[in-house]
Amino acid sequence: ARTFFVGGNFKMNGTVKSIKTIVDNLNNATLDANTEVVVAPPALFLLLVRETLKGKIEVAAQNIYDKPDGAYTGENSVHQLIDSKINWTILGHSERRTLLGETDAVVSSKTKYALDNGLSVIWCCGESLEEREANKTVAVVTGQLASLKESLGTSTAAWAKVVIAYEPIWAIGTGKVATTAQAQDVHAAIRTWLKENVSAEVAEATRILYGGSVNEKNCKELAKQPDIDGFLVGGASLKPGFVDIVNSHL
Ligand code: 13P
Repeated sequence: ARTFFVGGNFKMNGTVKSIKTIVDNLNNATLDANTEVVVAPPALFLLLVRETLKGKIEVAAQNIYDKPDGAYTGENSVHQLIDSKINWTILGHSERRTLLGETDAVVSSKTKYALDNGLSVIWCCGESLEEREANKTVAVVTGQLASLKESLGTSTAAWAKVVIAYEPIWAIGTGKVATTAQAQDVHAAIRTWLKENVSAEVAEATRILYGGSVNEKNCKELAKQPDIDGFLVGGASLKPGFVDIVNSHL
Protein backbone atom coordinates (compact mmCIF):
# COMPACT_ATOMS: atom_id res chain seq x y z
CA ALA A 1 0.00 0.00 0.00
CA ARG A 2 1.11 3.55 -0.72
CA THR A 3 1.87 5.78 2.28
CA PHE A 4 -0.55 8.71 2.36
CA PHE A 5 1.26 12.02 1.77
CA VAL A 6 0.27 15.58 2.63
CA GLY A 7 2.33 18.53 1.48
CA GLY A 8 1.86 22.15 2.56
CA ASN A 9 2.91 24.72 -0.02
CA PHE A 10 3.07 28.08 1.75
CA LYS A 11 3.91 29.83 -1.55
CA MET A 12 5.15 33.43 -1.03
CA ASN A 13 3.30 33.86 2.27
CA GLY A 14 4.12 34.33 5.93
CA THR A 15 6.09 36.41 8.39
CA VAL A 16 8.62 35.28 11.00
CA LYS A 17 5.77 35.35 13.51
CA SER A 18 3.17 33.53 11.43
CA ILE A 19 5.65 30.86 10.33
CA LYS A 20 6.57 30.21 13.98
CA THR A 21 2.87 29.86 14.77
CA ILE A 22 2.43 27.26 12.02
CA VAL A 23 5.44 25.29 13.32
CA ASP A 24 4.16 25.43 16.93
CA ASN A 25 0.77 24.26 15.77
CA LEU A 26 2.30 21.25 13.99
CA ASN A 27 4.64 20.48 16.90
CA ASN A 28 1.70 20.44 19.33
CA ALA A 29 -0.69 18.43 17.16
CA THR A 30 -1.28 14.71 17.11
CA LEU A 31 -0.57 13.75 13.52
CA ASP A 32 -1.45 10.49 11.77
CA ALA A 33 1.74 8.43 12.15
CA ASN A 34 0.98 6.69 8.86
CA THR A 35 0.91 9.89 6.80
CA GLU A 36 4.06 11.47 5.41
CA VAL A 37 4.07 15.25 5.88
CA VAL A 38 6.26 17.75 4.02
CA VAL A 39 6.00 21.52 4.34
CA ALA A 40 7.37 24.01 1.82
CA PRO A 41 7.91 27.47 3.32
CA PRO A 42 9.36 30.37 1.35
CA ALA A 43 13.15 30.08 0.88
CA LEU A 44 13.82 32.74 3.52
CA PHE A 45 12.16 30.58 6.19
CA LEU A 46 13.47 27.12 5.23
CA LEU A 47 16.14 26.94 7.93
CA LEU A 48 13.92 28.44 10.61
CA VAL A 49 11.30 25.79 9.88
CA ARG A 50 13.82 22.93 9.64
CA GLU A 51 15.44 23.86 12.94
CA THR A 52 12.21 24.31 14.89
CA LEU A 53 9.96 21.60 13.48
CA LYS A 54 9.91 18.41 15.54
CA GLY A 55 9.11 14.83 14.67
CA LYS A 56 9.22 13.27 11.25
CA ILE A 57 7.95 16.20 9.21
CA GLU A 58 10.18 16.95 6.24
CA VAL A 59 10.82 20.34 4.66
CA ALA A 60 10.77 21.23 0.96
CA ALA A 61 12.00 24.13 -1.12
CA GLN A 62 9.49 25.53 -3.61
CA ASN A 63 12.04 25.61 -6.42
CA ILE A 64 15.68 24.76 -7.16
CA TYR A 65 18.26 25.56 -9.83
CA ASP A 66 19.75 22.76 -11.91
CA LYS A 67 23.41 23.74 -11.55
CA PRO A 68 26.12 23.20 -8.91
CA ASP A 69 26.87 26.09 -6.50
CA GLY A 70 28.22 29.11 -8.32
CA ALA A 71 27.37 32.43 -9.94
CA TYR A 72 23.56 32.10 -10.10
CA THR A 73 22.22 35.13 -8.28
CA GLY A 74 18.92 34.55 -6.54
CA GLU A 75 18.67 30.80 -7.08
CA ASN A 76 18.23 27.90 -4.61
CA SER A 77 21.15 25.47 -4.49
CA VAL A 78 20.40 21.74 -4.16
CA HIS A 79 23.73 21.24 -2.40
CA GLN A 80 22.87 23.94 0.18
CA LEU A 81 19.42 22.44 0.71
CA ILE A 82 20.84 18.98 1.37
CA ASP A 83 23.45 20.54 3.69
CA SER A 84 20.57 22.16 5.60
CA LYS A 85 18.59 18.89 5.82
CA ILE A 86 15.95 20.19 3.45
CA ASN A 87 15.38 16.92 1.63
CA TRP A 88 12.56 17.82 -0.76
CA THR A 89 11.64 20.33 -3.42
CA ILE A 90 8.44 21.15 -5.25
CA LEU A 91 9.01 21.45 -9.01
CA GLY A 92 6.83 22.33 -11.96
CA HIS A 93 4.20 24.20 -9.99
CA SER A 94 1.75 25.88 -12.37
CA GLU A 95 2.59 29.28 -10.88
CA ARG A 96 6.20 28.82 -11.97
CA ARG A 97 5.19 27.38 -15.32
CA THR A 98 2.85 30.28 -16.11
CA LEU A 99 4.33 33.27 -14.24
CA LEU A 100 8.04 32.39 -14.48
CA GLY A 101 7.90 30.74 -17.89
CA GLU A 102 9.20 27.32 -16.85
CA THR A 103 8.72 24.92 -19.75
CA ASP A 104 8.35 21.13 -19.54
CA ALA A 105 12.03 20.91 -20.53
CA VAL A 106 13.13 23.22 -17.69
CA VAL A 107 11.00 21.34 -15.16
CA SER A 108 12.32 17.98 -16.32
CA SER A 109 15.92 19.16 -16.18
CA LYS A 110 15.43 20.51 -12.65
CA THR A 111 13.74 17.28 -11.58
CA LYS A 112 16.60 15.18 -12.90
CA TYR A 113 19.19 17.43 -11.26
CA ALA A 114 17.35 17.38 -7.91
CA LEU A 115 17.05 13.57 -7.93
CA ASP A 116 20.64 13.02 -9.06
CA ASN A 117 21.83 15.17 -6.17
CA GLY A 118 19.80 13.62 -3.39
CA LEU A 119 16.52 15.55 -3.19
CA SER A 120 13.07 14.04 -3.42
CA VAL A 121 10.61 15.88 -5.66
CA ILE A 122 6.97 16.85 -5.51
CA TRP A 123 6.42 17.18 -9.26
CA CYS A 124 3.34 19.13 -10.32
CA CYS A 125 1.17 18.88 -13.40
CA GLY A 126 -2.29 20.02 -14.40
CA GLU A 127 -4.46 21.60 -17.05
CA SER A 128 -5.94 25.07 -17.49
CA LEU A 129 -9.70 25.68 -17.58
CA GLU A 130 -9.54 26.20 -21.34
CA GLU A 131 -7.77 22.85 -21.77
CA ARG A 132 -10.31 21.06 -19.57
CA GLU A 133 -13.21 22.56 -21.48
CA ALA A 134 -11.62 21.38 -24.73
CA ASN A 135 -11.38 17.84 -23.27
CA LYS A 136 -7.62 18.00 -23.33
CA THR A 137 -6.99 17.30 -19.63
CA VAL A 138 -5.49 13.82 -19.97
CA ALA A 139 -3.52 14.81 -23.08
CA VAL A 140 -1.99 17.82 -21.28
CA VAL A 141 -1.10 15.88 -18.14
CA THR A 142 0.33 12.88 -19.96
CA GLY A 143 2.30 15.26 -22.20
CA GLN A 144 3.88 16.76 -19.08
CA LEU A 145 4.58 13.24 -17.78
CA ALA A 146 6.15 12.22 -21.09
CA SER A 147 8.58 15.12 -20.83
CA LEU A 148 9.50 14.01 -17.31
CA LYS A 149 10.02 10.44 -18.45
CA GLU A 150 12.36 11.62 -21.20
CA SER A 151 14.80 12.82 -18.55
CA LEU A 152 14.14 10.21 -15.83
CA GLY A 153 13.75 7.09 -17.88
CA THR A 154 12.10 4.07 -16.32
CA SER A 155 14.35 3.55 -13.30
CA THR A 156 12.28 2.43 -10.32
CA ALA A 157 14.84 4.02 -7.98
CA ALA A 158 14.45 7.43 -9.62
CA TRP A 159 10.63 7.34 -9.66
CA ALA A 160 10.59 6.21 -6.01
CA LYS A 161 11.80 9.70 -5.08
CA VAL A 162 9.06 11.47 -7.03
CA VAL A 163 5.59 12.26 -5.77
CA ILE A 164 3.20 13.48 -8.47
CA ALA A 165 0.84 16.34 -7.64
CA TYR A 166 -2.11 16.75 -9.97
CA GLU A 167 -3.19 20.37 -9.64
CA PRO A 168 -5.83 21.57 -12.09
CA ILE A 169 -4.99 25.25 -12.59
CA TRP A 170 -8.64 26.31 -12.40
CA ALA A 171 -8.85 24.83 -8.89
CA ILE A 172 -5.76 26.53 -7.46
CA GLY A 173 -6.53 29.32 -5.04
CA THR A 174 -10.02 29.68 -6.48
CA GLY A 175 -12.06 27.85 -3.84
CA LYS A 176 -13.26 25.72 -6.76
CA VAL A 177 -12.19 22.19 -5.84
CA ALA A 178 -12.32 19.40 -8.44
CA THR A 179 -15.14 16.96 -7.74
CA THR A 180 -14.02 13.65 -6.31
CA ALA A 181 -14.89 12.05 -9.66
CA GLN A 182 -12.94 14.63 -11.68
CA ALA A 183 -9.88 14.16 -9.49
CA GLN A 184 -10.12 10.37 -9.30
CA ASP A 185 -10.51 10.11 -13.10
CA VAL A 186 -7.32 12.08 -13.80
CA HIS A 187 -5.41 10.24 -11.05
CA ALA A 188 -6.44 6.91 -12.55
CA ALA A 189 -5.37 8.13 -16.00
CA ILE A 190 -1.97 9.14 -14.60
CA ARG A 191 -1.55 5.72 -13.00
CA THR A 192 -2.49 3.96 -16.22
CA TRP A 193 -0.02 6.13 -18.12
CA LEU A 194 2.72 5.18 -15.64
CA LYS A 195 1.88 1.51 -16.04
CA GLU A 196 1.98 1.67 -19.83
CA ASN A 197 4.98 3.96 -20.17
CA VAL A 198 7.18 3.37 -17.13
CA SER A 199 6.34 0.10 -15.40
CA ALA A 200 3.61 -1.67 -13.44
CA GLU A 201 5.83 -1.47 -10.38
CA VAL A 202 6.25 2.32 -10.60
CA ALA A 203 2.52 2.78 -11.32
CA GLU A 204 1.63 0.81 -8.20
CA ALA A 205 4.14 2.55 -5.92
CA THR A 206 3.93 6.21 -6.99
CA ARG A 207 1.93 8.56 -4.82
CA ILE A 208 -0.42 10.83 -6.80
CA LEU A 209 -1.56 13.87 -4.81
CA TYR A 210 -4.45 16.16 -5.54
CA GLY A 211 -3.96 19.92 -5.18
CA GLY A 212 -6.37 22.80 -5.68
CA SER A 213 -8.55 24.37 -2.98
CA VAL A 214 -8.20 21.42 -0.61
CA ASN A 215 -9.48 22.30 2.85
CA GLU A 216 -10.41 20.53 6.08
CA LYS A 217 -13.98 20.07 4.82
CA ASN A 218 -13.46 18.56 1.38
CA CYS A 219 -10.36 16.45 2.14
CA LYS A 220 -12.06 13.41 3.70
CA GLU A 221 -14.13 12.55 0.64
CA LEU A 222 -11.19 13.06 -1.72
CA ALA A 223 -8.94 10.93 0.53
CA LYS A 224 -11.28 7.95 0.08
CA GLN A 225 -10.70 7.75 -3.67
CA PRO A 226 -8.57 4.75 -4.64
CA ASP A 227 -6.03 6.72 -6.70
CA ILE A 228 -5.78 9.81 -4.48
CA ASP A 229 -2.75 9.21 -2.25
CA GLY A 230 -2.67 12.58 -0.53
CA PHE A 231 -2.76 16.32 -1.09
CA LEU A 232 -0.68 19.34 -1.95
CA VAL A 233 -2.30 22.11 0.04
CA GLY A 234 -1.79 25.82 -0.58
CA GLY A 235 -3.86 28.38 1.33
CA ALA A 236 -5.19 25.93 3.92
CA SER A 237 -1.66 24.86 4.89
CA LEU A 238 -1.20 28.29 6.51
CA LYS A 239 -4.10 27.69 8.91
CA PRO A 240 -4.62 25.45 11.95
CA GLY A 241 -7.03 23.28 9.91
CA PHE A 242 -3.99 21.90 8.04
CA VAL A 243 -3.74 19.37 10.87
CA ASP A 244 -7.18 18.00 9.93
CA ILE A 245 -6.03 17.63 6.32
CA VAL A 246 -2.92 15.74 7.48
CA ASN A 247 -5.25 13.48 9.45
CA SER A 248 -7.82 13.07 6.66
CA HIS A 249 -6.78 9.49 5.97
CA LEU A 250 -7.35 8.29 9.56
P1 13P B 1 -4.63 26.17 -2.92
O1 13P B 1 -4.76 25.04 -1.94
O2 13P B 1 -4.46 27.51 -2.26
O3 13P B 1 -5.72 26.15 -3.94
O4 13P B 1 -3.26 25.94 -3.71
C1 13P B 1 -2.99 24.69 -4.24
C2 13P B 1 -1.58 24.66 -4.68
O5 13P B 1 -1.22 25.30 -5.65
C3 13P B 1 -0.63 23.86 -3.90
O6 13P B 1 0.60 23.77 -4.55
